[in-house]
Amino acid sequence: MDSDEFYRIKRLPPYVFEQVNRQKAALRAKGADIIDLGMGNPDLPTPEHINAKLIETVGKPRTNRYSASRGIPGLRRAQAAYYERRFGVKLDPETQVVATLGSKEGFANMAQAITAPGDVILAPNPTYPIHAFGFLIAGGTIRQVPAEPGSAFFEALHRAVNHSVPKPLAVVLNYPSNPTAYVADLDFYREVVSFARRHDLIVLSDLAYAEIYFTDTPPPSILQIPEAFEVAVEFTSLSKTYSMPGWRIGFAVGNERLIAALARVKSYLDYGAFTPIQVAAAAALNGPQDCVDEARRIYRRRRDVLVEAFGRAGWEIPPPPATMFAWAPLPEPFRSAGMGSLEFAKLLQEEAHVAVSPGVGFGEDGEGFVRIALVENEQRIRQAARNIRRFLEKHGRAAHKGAKSDQKEVNQAS
Ligand SMILES: Cc1ncc(COP(=O)(O)O)c(C=O)c1O
Repeated sequence: MDSDEFYRIKRLPPYVFEQVNRQKAALRAKGADIIDLGMGNPDLPTPEHINAKLIETVGKPRTNRYSASRGIPGLRRAQAAYYERRFGVKLDPETQVVATLGSKEGFANMAQAITAPGDVILAPNPTYPIHAFGFLIAGGTIRQVPAEPGSAFFEALHRAVNHSVPKPLAVVLNYPSNPTAYVADLDFYREVVSFARRHDLIVLSDLAYAEIYFTDTPPPSILQIPEAFEVAVEFTSLSKTYSMPGWRIGFAVGNERLIAALARVKSYLDYGAFTPIQVAAAAALNGPQDCVDEARRIYRRRRDVLVEAFGRAGWEIPPPPATMFAWAPLPEPFRSAGMGSLEFAKLLQEEAHVAVSPGVGFGEDGEGFVRIALVENEQRIRQAARNIRRFLEKHGRAAHKGAKSDQKEVNQAS
């Protein structure tokens, strides 16, 4: 039996990004120096005091044993203290906080916990894939809503509760957003919470980029709306905040019924992260926070270099107000030629040796865009811009040969 005949596997088409990754591996094997702005894999080192806490804890008595699936109490307390400090939100570490093996695991297992086959979930498009696929794996059905937190979003919510059968179970929010970098304010959250309470809708808010922002006002938490505790759970992560992506530590916090459901599912599946990792994660949250400011400054400088250098090379990049991503429309002449984002990403990688993520990999409404991750240093970003300038000059020259041959060149090149 072919693996794609299995019920769940059929719901998981091969990752679009795999195609770009395979091409990247092949080019690297041939010696190409690929500047990788594709995957959102933070490249900054984990701050030293967090590493030191891990090392200090490994080998202490009993730290090798099965840990606590919900997270050790000290880690849950540290997360509650973070919410109080950062958002002015009080959480009960016993009933309103669960530590997860990265926020992705928490999100996926929340989907398992609450979804019955056929349940309808409202998820943004384009979005980080687990927001839709977590529910598809659990047997749910996705109804798309716009990623932008504006009037079209609320119109889509209204249409969904009026017309979808069965009535939607939950809505997914993600601000600051991956891949679009949209940000939301408290008025938006207030309106979502009020809507959700009226229509008995669960709200799952992914706040993975809480600390990666370039605006004067930091991104808010939905739990700053007191009534949100009736309907909402929020996911955060240490991956970006403390440059700890491989450590796999995140959190779900908020509504007690939902947190209990997630904790129950997890109690059957895992024993929690390795205790020294949890101890070091608590040290990250409780310790000095200047490392977070420094990471934010680095991403901001990279963003500015990207916008400036790519702009001079002929590719206008809208500056993202938050996240570690720029969401960029395909440059000319590819945009006018209607080239797909996957084709474009492959061509760019092949010819300019710059890897980006095709927008269509985040959902059909991501077509026409690519996501550029700020995960290489400023010098490498400038090098990427130089490569792209040559690439655009070559294709721009092709574009000026006349509409017909221009189209041909673009198609052939892909
Ligand atoms: C919006 C969003 N949520 C969640 C995650 C996953 O983070 P974690 O490492 O905590 O699983 C990412 C990682 O890229 C993300 O972009």
